[in-house]
Amino acid sequence: ETTITATLFPGDGIGPEIADSVKEIFNATQVPIKWEEFEIGKTIDPRTGSFLTWESMESVRRNGIGLKGPMTTPIGKGFKSLNLTLRKELGLYANVRPCLSIPGYKTRYDNVDLVTIRENTEGEYSGLEHQVVKGVVESLKIITRQASMRVAEYAFHYAQTHGRKRVSAIHKANIMKKTDGLFLQCCREVAEKYPDIVYEEVIIDNCCMMLVKNPSLFDVLCMPNLYGDIISDLCAGLIGGLGLTPSGNIGDNGLALMEAVHGTAPDIAGKNMANPTALLLSSVMMLQHLKIQDKADQIHKAIMKTIEEGQYLTRDLGGKSSTSEYTKAVIGNL
Ligand code: IPM
Ligand code: MN
Repeated sequence: ETTITATLFPGDGIGPEIADSVKEIFNATQVPIKWEEFEIGKTIDPRTGSFLTWESMESVRRNGIGLKGPMTTPIGKGFKSLNLTLRKELGLYANVRPCLSIPGYKTRYDNVDLVTIRENTEGEYSGLEHQVVKGVVESLKIITRQASMRVAEYAFHYAQTHGRKRVSAIHKANIMKKTDGLFLQCCREVAEKYPDIVYEEVIIDNCCMMLVKNPSLFDVLCMPNLYGDIISDLCAGLIGGLGLTPSGNIGDNGLALMEAVHGTAPDIAGKNMANPTALLLSSVMMLQHLKIQDKADQIHKAIMKTIEEGQYLTRDLGGKSSTSEYTKAVIGNL
């Protein structure tokens, strides 16, 4: 078996601890992956002019695959989020967030099985905000045909290759007639090429209501950037929260950077208390992407079994175990 090199950004706060958990479980499973690890966000690299080091970007581009822990994003001021800069710089245009009920973890819903696919490069995330005059600020929401088409193509292709039956385009085109209107137009055009997949359009407020009433109404949801940000958190909430959901950023030629969506949790950082499940499931998604299906299944099953058994859960899930005890339990279940 050949060894694959993958880039690893452990990230800030609890990042390094949960990344250790992934590394240990990969070792125990003998996953044929060698990590190239980078710490970013500490100093500005003159070659990139930002906190993203030139070497780390080169590494992701060269390897085509990476895994990323949480990174601090300042609110309301300061530098632009590194999470976003990474997506933009690497052209990771589709953000894929599968959301699946975890049998061993009870919530109000027991059959959630949906995937949000979010446009990942533009919309309200274009970063074009300024003051017009004192007391009046404006923000530009950019929607392009190019970005909308490629994310719609991705969503339908994903649906087709993952045995899914329906794609719902989520929008607010009744109000945002031009921007969301263009997004919808692109989804419609792509839908025509996939007659076997049911296509529907759902207005976002109604979508939220339907999701909390009956998540099984949905299968694949495709939407502009900010809506995808919000809806994917809502969906995570249906199955137990951001500690349990994986995420993948996909670009051209199979380039992929999987990440945990939750924050850096500075209050519990360095205390061996964090739940590594979201990053672990993201690493499983990474293995699936690399078509190392046997190892992906093996690790996925061991995580599910550990949660189902319930003896070694971390505090966020109502248990008393440390990150390393939970990790050990998963390894025991491999
Ligand atoms: C996410 C996060 C990011 C986003 C933040 C950390 C910049 O919430 O991945 O959903 O807004 O996209
Ligand atoms: Mn988010």
